Amino acid sequence: MTETVPNACQNFVVPADAYDRLMGRYLPTLAPAFIDAAAVRSGMRVLDVGCGPGGLTTELVARVGVGSVAAVDPSPPFVAACQDRNPGVDVRLGFAEDLPFDDDAFDATLASLVVGFMTDADAGAREMVRVTRPGGVVAACFWDRAGMPALRTFWAAAASLDDRVAGVPGRLGAADGEIAELLERAGAVEVEQGIVSASATYAGFADWWEPFTLGVGPAGAHYRSLDEEGRAALRAAAREALGQPEGPFTLEGRAWFARGAAPRR
Ligand SMILES: C[S@@+](CC[C@H](N)C(=O)[O-])C[C@H]1O[C@@H](n2cnc3c(N)ncnc32)[C@H](O)[C@@H]1O
Repeated sequence: MTETVPNACQNFVVPADAYDRLMGRYLPTLAPAFIDAAAVRSGMRVLDVGCGPGGLTTELVARVGVGSVAAVDPSPPFVAACQDRNPGVDVRLGFAEDLPFDDDAFDATLASLVVGFMTDADAGAREMVRVTRPGGVVAACFWDRAGMPALRTFWAAAASLDDRVAGVPGRLGAADGEIAELLERAGAVEVEQGIVSASATYAGFADWWEPFTLGVGPAGAHYRSLDEEGRAALRAAAREALGQPEGPFTLEGRAWFARGAAPRR
């Protein structure tokens, strides 16, 4: 299966529960904030691009109803999980750069934590505009590079052990203005940007650390690239960087979002 999936998404061809433990735990707070920022309202037909196991999809279903939501992702296990968790939603396997939907099919097209992982984000954004009816909403969000403590701490620990690591990998969408500029280049009009916040509570250090060992995303790939000694050193450095927590703690993250309107054609 993985031979048919380009490298750009292979670190997300992992079990859905591994993603849930690493990042999905932020979606119950991130998804409502992003949907509000995108001004999605009841009555809209909505597409979730790069849906993963469906954290945003589920919240969209709650807002607009199961028959008005479609979702797409290139990771087969995530598509299966999203479909299982959202029966009745039209969930398809596919890439943002070549969306398997008709022109003008949606009133709103959203992408949560995806633009930085697209192989060609400009092509993906143009496709998001294409499938959105003129005047409809096109919106995306992505973690601010410095604003997501769970990732920042992991990568700070990695950088302290390896000169080739320079903190959180720079990805499109992680800095001020980048998502807004992406949407504008894709032809969206009336583009606005802002910040949305999300949080997750951890039972303790192990609950925070173990998800990084499951191979999910760039952090999981970095961990898996290390030998046993390197993994143990990274765990110790991460514990130190996190402040040696004893007992439960909560981390807050902030993400850039931008929304615009598909142009009148
Ligand atoms: C960090 S996850 C975000 C998942 C979900 N949207 C969420 O907010 O939890 C990134 C997702 O982007 C997907 N992805 C990677 N490359 C993609 C592409 N070119 N087009 C669409 N989705 C892509 C991955 O399979 C993964 O599900």
